[in-house]
Amino acid sequence: MTNPFVYGEVVPVSAFVNREDELDRLTRDLLAGQKVFLISPRRYGKSSLVRQALRAAGRGGALVVDVTVSSYSSYVAFLEGYARALSSTERQTGRAVSWLREALSAVGPEVRIDKSGAGKSQVSLTFPAARTDRDVSRLAEEVFALPGRIAQSRRRKMAIALDEFQAIAGFDGGNVEHALRAAVQHQRDVGYVFSGSEPALMERMLGRSRPFYKAGPVLRLGRIPADRFADFLEARFRSTGIRSSPGLGLAIVELAGNLPYDVQRLAHELWDDVRAEGRRTAGLEDLHETLRRLLGEHQSLFEATWQRLTLAQRAALRAAVLQEGRELLSGDTRARYRLSGASTVQASLAALVREDILAREAERYIVVDSLLREWVARKTY
Ligand SMILES: Nc1ncnc2c1ncn2[C@@H]1O[C@H](COP(=O)(O)OP(=O)(O)OP(=O)(O)O)[C@@H](O)[C@H]1O
Ligand SMILES: [Mg+2]
Repeated sequence: MTNPFVYGEVVPVSAFVNREDELDRLTRDLLAGQKVFLISPRRYGKSSLVRQALRAAGRGGALVVDVTVSSYSSYVAFLEGYARALSSTERQTGRAVSWLREALSAVGPEVRIDKSGAGKSQVSLTFPAARTDRDVSRLAEEVFALPGRIAQSRRRKMAIALDEFQAIAGFDGGNVEHALRAAVQHQRDVGYVFSGSEPALMERMLGRSRPFYKAGPVLRLGRIPADRFADFLEARFRSTGIRSSPGLGLAIVELAGNLPYDVQRLAHELWDDVRAEGRRTAGLEDLHETLRRLLGEHQSLFEATWQRLTLAQRAALRAAVLQEGRELLSGDTRARYRLSGASTVQASLAALVREDILAREAERYIVVDSLLREWVARKTY
């Protein structure tokens, strides 16, 4: 029997909880040719939501393309990958190749079919002629115009996802944003979702002086309501023949800080442990047993993280854990945890946020990784 809980990858529809409103809105916007920004901290479920929305847009008649911007090591590599992904809207490899040659003839593409061992053929695309910055700008302009041309010639809508979009700033900053914005605003039959997991970077990209200012709707993804998530967990245990004790679902959600990734991780690991013992029930004691195992397995990783911190940062992190992130600058808190002056504590907190160890949420600081939070609470002094 396979584990019903999934983490570390885009979740299949069977493990996808809630998000009905977001999914509905995103799908409608894509089909309406909107340029949507989707923002949340890491591991909240952007990619999973985008995948569902693309699937729905596909059912609604759109040609869909999904590209992860951060997987490319250079601007040109991204343009190659993006053009290749666009060509995959032609089902047949042969047709994709001739389409690319024709559509990009102005920028000298080198297109081949690569046959991998398994007999699967893949399109390989490079732009050997793109050497200077001007060549690359020209190339970008051609590639960014492709979706509009596809939509027009195929008389189809398109829905395009550019995931981890904040990585675009690393390529060549403002110019990429300008070129892309200039292209997409004319493509009325092409919906885009630009999703990114570094809220600060993404919000800055939407600032008044930037090309994407007011380019389209902004969707900020929040948490999944705890009770919905808890019900889902218990239902999945039940559907695999395991009865959960009262409150187990909520206990998992809380222990995992209600971060979708952490919730699924904890549930997945608990399920494994219970199954391995051939049991039919899962309770709070089992949950804590699983937690202990996970902390043990992460010991060296967390130790390394801890070693990298300065003493002031360690103290601030401990205080954040024990105070549940609240009132960290107050005199009381500083005295209780032997922290130094407020400005030093503030600097430590800022460094921990930069390191992605803490995150700022409303009036408090939360530890991003709930396992690290438990480890700090139990194993540091
Ligand atoms: N709607 C959902 N229902 C249940 N679990 C979810 C949902 N969305 C996300 N998750 C859980 O969170 C994990 C991370 O999801 P996903 O990769 O979609 O997030 P992300 O925001 O794109 O993360 P990253 O910023 O790391 O790219 C999934 O593997 C899954 O365990
Ligand atoms: Mg993602």
